[in-house]
Amino acid sequence: MKFFVDTADIAEIRSLAETGLIDGVTTNPSLVAKSGRDFFDVLKDICDAVSGPVSAEVAATDAEGMIREGDKLAKVSKNIAVKLPMTWEGLKACRHFADKGIMTNVTLCFSAAQAILAAKAGATFVSPFIGRIDDTGADGMQLIRDICAIYRQYPDFTTLVLAASIRSPLHITEAGKAGAHVATIPPAVLKSLVNHPLTDKGLSIFLADWQKTGQKIA
Ligand code: G3P
Repeated sequence: MKFFVDTADIAEIRSLAETGLIDGVTTNPSLVAKSGRDFFDVLKDICDAVSGPVSAEVAATDAEGMIREGDKLAKVSKNIAVKLPMTWEGLKACRHFADKGIMTNVTLCFSAAQAILAAKAGATFVSPFIGRIDDTGADGMQLIRDICAIYRQYPDFTTLVLAASIRSPLHITEAGKAGAHVATIPPAVLKSLVNHPLTDKGLSIFLADWQKTGQKIA
């Protein structure tokens, strides 16, 4: 299972990249706005910090405009994945980039039927939004299960399921059980994954007992 970090905060990305556990980054217009920085400056910094895919979202709503913007975004680095909305125009642009060998991430996926369209458009990634579905009172994880089950039936579908809008560690473990290839995770949730009270308690006991031995390892 690959881990992407879902942020445009370069300090967070650099610090998480040091763990060696980050396989890529996803951004969206809201995250770029939150960073308060120039989009292209942010993208350059992120692409310098991580070698895996970096999703950069277009703002145009017509395929021609998306292609123009996507071409410009893709020039930033080889690891840019052009992020496109789940619309007919976005799917047309997706096919264009797939044919050119440029990575794509079809975002704002809220149904299995949409995920089938993304696969047929040759998307590198499809982003089903778990948390936002949960927010409506429905089960976001069921969508991940359904998409993974459908994709498994068709070996010619090469699109990777990128579980997005993740809010908790449980979202990550459940997405993993369903077979999601990637989870894109907000920094705070990613950092919380290591926490367990029994780990802290066990470590304190080991350290106290080790001290009693009076020994040194190095
Ligand atoms: O980047 C797309 C997605 O992960 C957004 O998450 O928390 O804004 O629903 P959220």
